[in-house]
Amino acid sequence: MGDTTLARTTINRMNLTSAKLRAALLTAALALSAYPGSNSLAAQATDWPNYGRDGSEQHYSPLEDVTLDNVDKLSLAWSFDLEPGFSVSAPVAAGGKLFTTTGHSHIRALDAASGKLLWDFDPGVRAIAQSPLHVSWGNKGIAWWDGRVFLATTDGRVIALDDSTGKPLWERRQFELAELRNSNGAPRVFDGKVIIGHGGADISPLRAYVTAYDAKTGEQLWRFYTVPGDPAVPAESKAEQVMRPTWKGDWFGRGGGGTAWNAFSYDEDLDLIYIGVGNGFPYNHLMRSPGGGDNLFLASVVAVRADTGEYVWHYQVCPAEQWDCTAVQDMTIATLQIDGKPRRVLLQAPKNGFFYVLDAATGEFISAEKIARVSWAEKIDAATGRPVENPAIRYQDKPGLFELWPGLQGAHSWLPQAFSPRTGLVYVPIMEIGALIGPPRPGAQGIGAGMGATVVPDPELPGSRRSFLKAWDPVGQQPAWTIELPGAWPGGVLATAGDLVFQGRIDGYLVAYNANTGAQVWSFKTVAPVVAPPISYSVGDTQYITVLTGSGSQGGGILATGNAAYRTDYALPRRVLTFAIGGKATLPAFDMPVLTPPADPDFKPDPERVMAGAMVYANNACLVCHGMNAIGGGAAPDLRYSPVILRGDDFRAVVKGGALKLQGMPPSPQLADPALEELRHYLRMRAVQAGQGQE
Ligand code: HEC
Repeated sequence: MGDTTLARTTINRMNLTSAKLRAALLTAALALSAYPGSNSLAAQATDWPNYGRDGSEQHYSPLEDVTLDNVDKLSLAWSFDLEPGFSVSAPVAAGGKLFTTTGHSHIRALDAASGKLLWDFDPGVRAIAQSPLHVSWGNKGIAWWDGRVFLATTDGRVIALDDSTGKPLWERRQFELAELRNSNGAPRVFDGKVIIGHGGADISPLRAYVTAYDAKTGEQLWRFYTVPGDPAVPAESKAEQVMRPTWKGDWFGRGGGGTAWNAFSYDEDLDLIYIGVGNGFPYNHLMRSPGGGDNLFLASVVAVRADTGEYVWHYQVCPAEQWDCTAVQDMTIATLQIDGKPRRVLLQAPKNGFFYVLDAATGEFISAEKIARVSWAEKIDAATGRPVENPAIRYQDKPGLFELWPGLQGAHSWLPQAFSPRTGLVYVPIMEIGALIGPPRPGAQGIGAGMGATVVPDPELPGSRRSFLKAWDPVGQQPAWTIELPGAWPGGVLATAGDLVFQGRIDGYLVAYNANTGAQVWSFKTVAPVVAPPISYSVGDTQYITVLTGSGSQGGGILATGNAAYRTDYALPRRVLTFAIGGKATLPAFDMPVLTPPADPDFKPDPERVMAGAMVYANNACLVCHGMNAIGGGAAPDLRYSPVILRGDDFRAVVKGGALKLQGMPPSPQLADPALEELRHYLRMRAVQAGQGQE
């Protein structure tokens, strides 16, 4: 898009009268932008090669065959069944093929018009994984460039496949298996480079980085660290010089984090790649950096040179963050009319509940307003670009509990927003889930050490666990329209040139709205929930809309108590659904299974053992896949209905021995028998409660 936009602007500026000359220039610009390798942004209108389609991450399709006038004729063209588990990713489409990934980076190439399977590739994550981290959280997407499909496995491999055969062309490791890192974000290909980051800041004080590989050869081109290195070694790069003074006291080795596990954007004209950086470890700022300081680049957007990874600018959304505040949310690059002049901007709604407009070239703060319920700060000071904090947020020395809005889940998670250059609006999936935070809990370890935090459900925090689709005017910094959604886990968004906005829902619908007014204009019952962002592409004369069904772990899992009213569980069908005007397919029949807890008449609950078992459950990653309070989401079976919890030997074989390892259930060999039995006791109690209709 870069070259084309530039050419168009030039044409306008020259105010040419000759239509012929104008057409010639435009053709030249288009030809230039379609030249492979010269401009990875210039996705063909027909294709969707990157997670957000192109480097602008607008999640916007220029296709305009499906419109407000004919959307009522949009119907299923084909569907393809996937295995159970995580299915929260956006596919990519190029040259008449659709490429999908599921939780363990199982890649499938499908004929984009018919849904016929062309090839599949399973990198064997479940067999290779050495920690639950490696199979948790799922895989959010893949990329396509110049005849290749790129995937990043959760266990740290970056792989390029031939898009016609599915055969690996090269493979690299971005971290070693033994490290406490994982990688679940979508790699992007910008400017012929594969850009990828990783997660793991919630586990240890690791020093996070982003790596760029040559998309053709796999050669590592650069690596950018997001938190500083050993202060005993001289700071060589500009980034180190900027970061180091913001970490104070005896911090090295105690704290770190700053993982960039989700969002990247790219602007070709500015030659900048943008990195969205996450939270610190541990949460408590003063345990991480005893002398204070802003702790760069935690919770920041950082711009680096595309060719070298050299630091250019940064903007920190939560200085000295200590509430799991991240800026890993998608960063949309767009041109907006600011004060009457076109300006290239970066638009982000990070976790902290503000919507930011930054100058994409310099990082200069332009504006920020609350897009959701916010209590941690009053506003962002326009002069300094820094938040005016509520003093209660510095919980270290504050007795009592403080209502934190947004809570630790954030107002916006990794589910992407979309931007339509036609309406000028950003369509943002918003959550309102509060938390109570307080002074350090005695004995707490790991990331939450030094912070008391709970995610409190209704009725204690009225208004908690709501979700919305908000159409936001980034120039006026106000909503154009708002739709309240069911549940508390809103899906990713697609905008199209047909003035349509598509979003999936937790209650099993894909819905289209009028992009201007928010009026619902179409819906399709998907049976399973839809969290993944839809995409659009075309083959021949037909425009298609595609989405994966399934909620991953979050929908009914880690946020389960907000979504327990909806069926989001493991038993629901995972599918690729593709729609077109006049589509003739029907969904295969599906009988919704009835879930009943196993009969356990002899069970005598002991409150102390239940509590101890709940701690084992929470401290051993079970909740990441099996859900908070053992309410299953999409990633793994709902253990309240599992017969395995009645039989000690089977339970040990599965949980400790790894009997279901190849099915995606990671073993926990560290669990001693008494802990296993407490765990089982807790799950049996949860089954009894489920039988009584309790959440
Ligand atoms: C990375 C995700 C993940 C984590 C972490 C995880 N599990 Fe699982 N678990 C699964 C999956 C997936 C299955 C289903 C495997 C299959 O299809 O047979 C499963 C199955 C099970 C089953 C058998 C259920 C049945 O009825 O077949 C039990 C019991 C279980 N898990 C307990 C646990 C416990 C306890 C923990 C924490 C120590 C845990 N799991 C951690 C993913 C996970």
